[in-house]
Amino acid sequence: MKKPMSVLLLSCMLSTVLLQACSAPESLEKPQAVSHRFVAAHRGYSQAAPENTLPAFNEAYLAGADAIEYDMQVTKDSHVVIMHDKTVNRTTNGKGKITDLTLAQVEKLDAGYWFSPRFKGTRVPTLAQLLDQFKRHAPVLQFSEIKHYRTAADISLMIEPILKLGLEKRTVVTAFSPSDLHIVRQMSPHIGIGYLCPSVRATVLALNLAANDPNTWVMPTSTVLVNHPALIRRAAKQHTHLAAWTVNREDLEDDLELLGVHSFITNDPKLIEGSP
Ligand code: G3P
Ligand code: CA
Repeated sequence: MKKPMSVLLLSCMLSTVLLQACSAPESLEKPQAVSHRFVAAHRGYSQAAPENTLPAFNEAYLAGADAIEYDMQVTKDSHVVIMHDKTVNRTTNGKGKITDLTLAQVEKLDAGYWFSPRFKGTRVPTLAQLLDQFKRHAPVLQFSEIKHYRTAADISLMIEPILKLGLEKRTVVTAFSPSDLHIVRQMSPHIGIGYLCPSVRATVLALNLAANDPNTWVMPTSTVLVNHPALIRRAAKQHTHLAAWTVNREDLEDDLELLGVHSFITNDPKLIEGSP
């Protein structure tokens, strides 16, 4: 439900929207929209299917999400797989760290039953399997997070398959570490990069780094943005894509929209897309 807003808030919102509408960067195939909410499905449609699995990404596509978000890690034998935690304990029927397991061991795990018996037999996807599905879901974007890794060489293992498939313009590689994203930017001037910002300080740093790079997103937590709307105005002023995570409540999404945020990373794309 929409909340009443003050004249001040309305004027702030309108100026932010106008700034973005007049000069949104056009480098990515599907840049942040302003006439429409941009909705990224966090770990896929993770409210409807087990997170970071092919069914979750397919559900996101069917729900009309603008982007899928997922987490990349590397196995003991250097294969990139899609999983959030360092260990397989929470989201599979196995135990242990991803970096201690071979791909063959990971592929035997059930990554669906913990979520619901309906998903029994769902596997942990490799990056290659995910990309094979994703490339058929144009024009959806992907937010591909560099999660846990051993050395910088692992970052190349994560990014090269995306470049080989020519998916730079549908990809925003995200990370909490600016130096990881610097490595990615050296690999491709065209691929999107997204700074994950858990604090005000990280957001200010990211906005500084993003100022002259049109293929860059700044992704703060919703708490940072609600409490510091000047950051939203600054992003609009310098034409930097801005997305809030993780927005799973309609009232929070309303508050952010009134402040001028139009892109949301959510576990429930239908909730955000469907709100008035
Ligand atoms: O998209 C932002 C979000 O994915 C970062 O947090 O822990 O869910 O990977 P986490
Ligand atoms: Ca993530």
